[in-house]
Amino acid sequence: MMIRSVGALTPEVVPVGDLGHDERREIIDLCERAFDEDFSRFFEQFPDTIHVLIRDSGGHLLSHAAWVTRWLQPGTLPILPTAYVEAVATDSDHRGSGLGSAVLTRLIDAVSCDGSWSLAALSPADPAFYARLGWEVWRGPLAIRRGEGIEPSPPDEQVMVHRLALTPVGLDLDSLLTAEWREGELW
Ligand SMILES: CC(C)(COP(=O)(O)OP(=O)(O)OC[C@H]1O[C@@H](n2cnc3c(N)ncnc32)[C@H](O)[C@@H]1OP(=O)(O)O)[C@@H](O)C(=O)NCCC(=O)NCCS
Repeated sequence: MMIRSVGALTPEVVPVGDLGHDERREIIDLCERAFDEDFSRFFEQFPDTIHVLIRDSGGHLLSHAAWVTRWLQPGTLPILPTAYVEAVATDSDHRGSGLGSAVLTRLIDAVSCDGSWSLAALSPADPAFYARLGWEVWRGPLAIRRGEGIEPSPPDEQVMVHRLALTPVGLDLDSLLTAEWREGELW
């Protein structure tokens, strides 16, 4: 596994159960500043997160991403256990120094080594940032599986995927991609 560091700052991978109250609060604060959105229910909405964090030498959180378990199904392939990435954020005073890239590179290393995941995916605010890091835009239609049926997602919804060692070779970016329904943002 290659761990990419930025200066002396090395990303750490932390399951949510190992995060204390103050660390959770710090993640919520960082994301609220970065997205200008309410993240206060993040840990209730996503109880099974694994986090990638970069802190400065004083322990302050500079950059963050997390992944949750989702079940994406591309075209006629089986439903794939998918590491779905949320809350990618770097403190505004520290952007453009490679921290966000280092966090995402570490995240892909971690999910690749874990061996539980067949795909990584996310809904990008800005696809260009992720494309440089090997993420590919899903070109086919998107839909949400709910009950017995599927509900098409609006055409402005965007998803990117990152192939992993266990990703099926037949993955077709032009096919239909479905995900299980969830509360809140569906993608
Ligand atoms: C997106 C974000 C996480 C990037 O963090 P960062 O630590 O600045 O990222 P990096 O320093 O690793 O950036 C690496 C490169 O991507 C570029 N980049 C950064 N943000 C970008 C964006 N939104 N779109 C396109 N390119 C971007 C940088 O210019 C840099 O390019 P360079 O290497 O040629 O100089 C940060 O801008 C942020 O927190 N934004 C607000 C929250 C947000 O939009 N999160 C993403 C949601 S999907």
